Amino acid sequence: MQIGRHPTNLALIGFMGTGKTSVGRQVADHLGFEFLDTDEFIQSRTGRTIADIFTKDGEPAFRALEKQVVQELSSREKTVIATGGGLPTNAENLAALKLFALVVCLWASPEKIWERVRNQSHRPLLHDADPQKKIRELLAVREPFYKQADVLINTDLRSVREAAQQITLQFKLATRQPR
Ligand code: S3P
Repeated sequence: MQIGRHPTNLALIGFMGTGKTSVGRQVADHLGFEFLDTDEFIQSRTGRTIADIFTKDGEPAFRALEKQVVQELSSREKTVIATGGGLPTNAENLAALKLFALVVCLWASPEKIWERVRNQSHRPLLHDADPQKKIRELLAVREPFYKQADVLINTDLRSVREAAQQITLQFKLATRQPR
């Protein structure tokens, strides 16, 4: 982590199905922080589902909402923020997150991601004739953004509990005050 940064929040980034919400809730419990999920935030703000926003207004409208949320969250403290999978692929969003949070990426292979999302239907970007190919393509495009995180955690072989413990430890180390 860059010298001079003193993050008071933790942001989880990563592809759909990497466990940001489940891991994030546990990390928030361990740290005694609040938990916030950007998709839930947008849904409660607009009173609409993400799928509805994508279908009726289009993806650019959803991305604009995500950008607004990141700006609004900049004044928060002691919050674990689970972000939507595409949010950090906007360089401005990623840079803004780094100003107020330690950014942790949950990584997973396309095979693991498919295993985790195949029985879920709420993600508009995976409503595709070949969702496995779509996952591989999107992941390849997004990888350079995800890998700019301060901490990268591979979740292929880690349970939610293990990932949460690892991240809690990393946050404590990163925010330890020098003696
Ligand atoms: C998206 C991921 C979703 C949600 C939207 C778009 C993406 O969030 O924001 O469907 O672009 O990867 P999760 O990563 O929580 O599934």
